[in-house]
Amino acid sequence: MLAPMSGVTDLPFRQLAWRFGAGLVVTEMVASRELVGNASESWSRLKSSGIDPHMVQLAGREAHWMGEAAKIAADNGADVIDINMGCPAKKVTGGYSGSALMRDPDHALSLIEATVNAVDVPVTLKMRLGWDENSINAPLIAKRAQDAGVQMITIHGRTRMQFYNGVADWDAIRAVRDVITVPLVANGDVATRDDANEILRRSGADAVMIGRSSQGRPWHAGVLAGAAEHPDAAEIADIVAEHYGMMLEFYGTDIGLRHARKHLGWYLGRFAPQMAAQEKAAIMTSTDPTTALSAAVAAIAAGSSRDEEKDAA
Ligand SMILES: Cc1cc2nc3c(=O)[nH]c(=O)nc-3n(C[C@H](O)[C@H](O)[C@H](O)COP(=O)(O)O)c2cc1C
Repeated sequence: MLAPMSGVTDLPFRQLAWRFGAGLVVTEMVASRELVGNASESWSRLKSSGIDPHMVQLAGREAHWMGEAAKIAADNGADVIDINMGCPAKKVTGGYSGSALMRDPDHALSLIEATVNAVDVPVTLKMRLGWDENSINAPLIAKRAQDAGVQMITIHGRTRMQFYNGVADWDAIRAVRDVITVPLVANGDVATRDDANEILRRSGADAVMIGRSSQGRPWHAGVLAGAAEHPDAAEIADIVAEHYGMMLEFYGTDIGLRHARKHLGWYLGRFAPQMAAQEKAAIMTSTDPTTALSAAVAAIAAGSSRDEEKDAA
């Protein structure tokens, strides 16, 4: 599965990941209250086309808004609603949503119940191991969530206080496996096929979710799943050009360029490591889409897909 990543897994990225065989892809988190309030960014995040099932992730801190947002998402084509209880960002936890919900399991359950009761589509849950190392309560919340009707649970093997530091604890995810029967997805620091096999073995999970290791390679989940081959340098250059065009079309040129810059940076970092920093900066800051893209594509086509070969090994 491709992990939900705000600012990364927008519709163009998900469409590519899906085409290359990711087992499931999830929208960036959609703030429930903002969606109900009709914020345009929420609607943009809710969009889907050509992806089946359409899995929408909602974040929030009040049961009422979660229920209302779930209804809107389902009425607008969501096939699955995922609840975000993993985000560590202060902006999110300061508002007592994301991983902050794990500090108060009763409150977390009220949100889960409101979401499950609001819609007929399956509801899933994504969370961390707990708030900190002294409050590892993912097993407790997972069991209660399953009893409330949640149909799949993803665990990122870190606590909130770890943010993205240290390493994900794949063994700790097994404590969740021991108490639930619904499908379990393990997540955190998976980059290679060996990692994927190892996290499955150690956690007892049914599936693997990958996030950062797919930045700059939307095909990676499909490749790890054995659904796609590693693209070669020429194919990567074609994918980059296609992705670039998709972003400009989805967002319009101005905003599209800003999104495209970030992705180009990841592509160039992986597949044109030989490029001089100055040249890379010129591409990244160019306001002319044609020039930026052709320079990036030429550098990538001249590079290699060594990165992929290393992973395959
Ligand atoms: C830039 C970025 C944005 C993220 N946004 C979300 C999000 O919107 N919802 C969510 O549940 N997790 C989010 N995450 C967490 C990822 O889904 C995932 O749990 C985490 O990155 C660990 O997996 P990885 O080691 O494979 O990257 C985000 C992570 C990153 C790096």
